[in-house]
Amino acid sequence: MHFDVFTLLPEVFPAYLNTSILKRARERGLIQVDVHNLRDYTRDKHHTTDDMPYGGGGGMVMKPEPIFEALETILELTPQTPPQPVSNIPIILLTPQGRVFNQNIAKELSAHPRLALLCGRYEGIDERIREHLITDEISIGDYVLTGGEIPALILIDAISRLLPNVLGDPTGAEDDSHAMGLLEYPHYTRPPEFRGWRAPEILLSGDHAKIEKWRREQALERTFRKRPDMLEKADLSKDDLKFLATLKRNS
Ligand code: ADE
Repeated sequence: MHFDVFTLLPEVFPAYLNTSILKRARERGLIQVDVHNLRDYTRDKHHTTDDMPYGGGGGMVMKPEPIFEALETILELTPQTPPQPVSNIPIILLTPQGRVFNQNIAKELSAHPRLALLCGRYEGIDERIREHLITDEISIGDYVLTGGEIPALILIDAISRLLPNVLGDPTGAEDDSHAMGLLEYPHYTRPPEFRGWRAPEILLSGDHAKIEKWRREQALERTFRKRPDMLEKADLSKDDLKFLATLKRNS
């Protein structure tokens, strides 16, 4: 997977991308992340990337020229008038106005070989960028940040860990909270007893069928208590439904 990030704050990215799983994925060539400074695509002396909004009002607006120039150069798009669908590379604007990111969207995006991520700053971007360049808009939740840089890192992280061989454990992404439509079961490791609190005996029993059943029921119970909304879309077996019915009766 090849990510191209377009930002006014490229310095935000290296620390996270040079750490842990993403670092290893980059070193192994499983992902490539190119961070492009939009300021490098300005043509005026002052490297201006923003301007005052037409019609007045507070805040500044990101200008169209550097953004079009940067994306056209890096993605090798031909400037077209009237505008055409410009490429088959999704060009994603990170904005609180976008569709709200979730595991399904991460999966959908992980199927593309290349993604362009445009980080907004200031009050917003000139609407012509949205109309004629952007192909998708994503929000990471119903709150407003100072820019799209952290959201872009969140997309890179969530998408990368779904790609083959990125996680050390090949089943790592399958049992995740949300991957199967349920919250994940609880985990324990050594010691078997810590400050008088014992790990569940069943996990120490070596009985894999029982452990699997226990984990499934824990996942169902957690989801029932913390995120009952998720149960409406989850893929549930007859046994799951029976177990949930008991939980409901006893709650
Ligand atoms: N930029 C500012 N807030 C954002 C959000 N919630 N999601 C994506 N991009 C943003």
